[in-house]
Amino acid sequence: MFVRRIAVVGTGYVGLTTGACLASLGHEVVCADVDAAKLARLAAGEVDILEPGLAELVAEGIAAGRLSFVLGAAAAVGHFPDGPEVLFLCVPTPMGVGGVADLSIVESVVEEVRELLPDGCVVVNKSTVPVGTAERTAELLGRDDVAVVSNPEFLREGTAVYDFLNPDRIVVGGNKQDAAERVAALYSRLGAPTVLTDAPSAELVKYAANCFLAMKLSYVNAVAELCDRLGANITDVTEGMGYDKRIGQAFLMPGPGWGGSCLPKDTAALLQLADAADFEFRLLRATIDTNTRQRQRMVEKVRVAVTGKRTGSLSHLRLALFGLTFKAGTDDLRDSPALAVAALLRQAGAELAGYDPALGSDCAHPDVSSITVVDDPYLAAKDAEAIVVLTEWPEFRSLDWNRLAETVRRPVVVDTRNLLDPAVARRAGFEWIGLGKA
Ligand code: UGA
Repeated sequence: MFVRRIAVVGTGYVGLTTGACLASLGHEVVCADVDAAKLARLAAGEVDILEPGLAELVAEGIAAGRLSFVLGAAAAVGHFPDGPEVLFLCVPTPMGVGGVADLSIVESVVEEVRELLPDGCVVVNKSTVPVGTAERTAELLGRDDVAVVSNPEFLREGTAVYDFLNPDRIVVGGNKQDAAERVAALYSRLGAPTVLTDAPSAELVKYAANCFLAMKLSYVNAVAELCDRLGANITDVTEGMGYDKRIGQAFLMPGPGWGGSCLPKDTAALLQLADAADFEFRLLRATIDTNTRQRQRMVEKVRVAVTGKRTGSLSHLRLALFGLTFKAGTDDLRDSPALAVAALLRQAGAELAGYDPALGSDCAHPDVSSITVVDDPYLAAKDAEAIVVLTEWPEFRSLDWNRLAETVRRPVVVDTRNLLDPAVARRAGFEWIGLGKA
């Protein structure tokens, strides 16, 4: 395997995972960011995102002399005497106006490095960007001797290192075959199937995959609603569906709706791309609408559970929310369905106490300001009219549900993740209300 000189711009969960994992594969990597305090922590081996195995890989990379950190993209290019062979762009592409991805950070990095890159360097876009961005980047660079390649990432938060080192596939797209092959070769030790294609196709793979996952979840949430109405059991229905290899068991868990920093942003962006291409992508619009409706449906469930009526008032009623992050295994609150449901409950007048294993009572995130976050689930449950499970943290299963039954005002649990064993909750005296099953 060839050892490459690699610069990675951006040390978020994608950039840092990419840098640390490429260093662990034997490459020489320098990572750049604009946050000097964060870089100082990283250089000391301190990682402030919750990603299993990442801190260890960063420390190993630094100790082996294969991983270092510098301030700014230009410094990353200047780090190697002959410049980097490959430069990864892993900077944020937030949702801009009307769901269009905001590329201003990508553009400013390109502007910063365009005259500094050595001949033959390959610029790799790893951020999720609209189809056509590789071409646009190449135009901005204005360098025939520097190729631009799209190499989307498929990492999940909370399992990013595992996903990087055990990829289902590597996708690389560009109009210069040798540059795309050089990028694919960086991952050759991982032995994953590799799709070599043009840049627009590689860019579209990422959106098409994330939107398909979102569609799968909206579909399952709709089927769960049907199960409620028809008296069927969603767990058995999805198990029965999932044995079909064309469907698969993964991503079939109903919930309060999908969220996080990727699926909502990417579904909105693809819809926007389709609109701009004069294509009415109704299936995708329905996927998003179903997700919005799912959050309201969770509130209806709580209303029925607490008041006995779909329109009953929640005004001044105390509810305990178990789980606030967008999924288990992360401390990320971005676009969390739990917070979206919480906001609707709050609008309906409920008083909210929240507990999340990844958050402390000192959590100052603006999105949780209307929730009293506590460090102890039993404290959150004190005098509650219902416990609402919103994130699938496995530790909720092993709480002392007998003790919780004595703590709440009314022993009702609305389990929007079908996480608990209903028999355990019921033995403890709770009325258990799940999704798509009785
Ligand atoms: C997602 C994709 O899964 C990754 O492949 C992709 O690389 C990443 O976005 C990205 O674009 O960077 P992530 O945002 O970490 O990863 O979250 P997921 O694990 O996909 O979960 C998304 C949402 O779906 C969460 O709210 C989760 O609770 C929900 N979900 C997931 C369910 O409700 N049910 C399931 O069965 C699975």
